[in-house]
Amino acid sequence: MSRPVHFVHLTDLHLSHPDHRDPELLSDTLGTLKTVKAMVRAVRPRPAFILISGDLTNRGDAKSYRLLAETMDGIDIPIVYALGNHDSRPGFYEGMLGRDCNLEAPYCHDTVIDDLHVVVLDSRVPGRIGGALSSDQFDFLQSALDRHTGLRKIIAIHHPPALDEDATLAWECLDWADSRRLAGLLKGRDVAGVFSGHVHYDRVTFWHGMPVVVGTGLHTANDILYADGLRMVSGASFGLCTLRESGLTVSFVPLPSDRHELQTLDLKTLRALI
Ligand SMILES: [Fe+2]
Repeated sequence: MSRPVHFVHLTDLHLSHPDHRDPELLSDTLGTLKTVKAMVRAVRPRPAFILISGDLTNRGDAKSYRLLAETMDGIDIPIVYALGNHDSRPGFYEGMLGRDCNLEAPYCHDTVIDDLHVVVLDSRVPGRIGGALSSDQFDFLQSALDRHTGLRKIIAIHHPPALDEDATLAWECLDWADSRRLAGLLKGRDVAGVFSGHVHYDRVTFWHGMPVVVGTGLHTANDILYADGLRMVSGASFGLCTLRESGLTVSFVPLPSDRHELQTLDLKTLRALI
């Protein structure tokens, strides 16, 4: 890699078509996405790509994916999409890709942009909030890594890897066993960063020698000082990323917010949901 590569990390768009009058939508995500789109278009140097790490829609319906495609139309920067627990594979394939077969297949794929190998995994498990990876996806990852051994890697996965074996955090991350297996596969593969979302706050972890970057996203912000459950406040951010020979930099761009309370779930309600 001779020149720096600049890219943008978005996550957790939670777009929902206005026709749905979605009662579970807690903010104007369409308006936020339009604002962020305008901000990203003005970024200089021009980003080589935009990485969006899942929860593209709030309900996983094809109509909302079509709205997403329309909203992002004309941005003239390659966009790499991943799916999250709020997404649905059939809805995404139909609404975004116009596909009408093999609709339940995990959306894992890879691409090379400016000598950077971007690998996308699909950690969604239908009916679950936490994430997992099937054996097929590990096989896909292995062959993708073997295909471009000389290139630096960016991994996109909606659920961040589990940091430890604390079962109370199970909803927040990838399954523990899969996290351990993922770490083993990525070891020594020149991974510059793992990009995730899901927990709705900005967080950077150094995990098995790799930075794991989590973004707040565009729907709600998790009040991490609230310890008695889950308190969601208004707030959004995205990441401006630069990868140099020397390493990765991510600058978080917070959108203006008064951080007023949107929803609070106590621990009992939260456990019932999980
Ligand atoms: Fe989300």
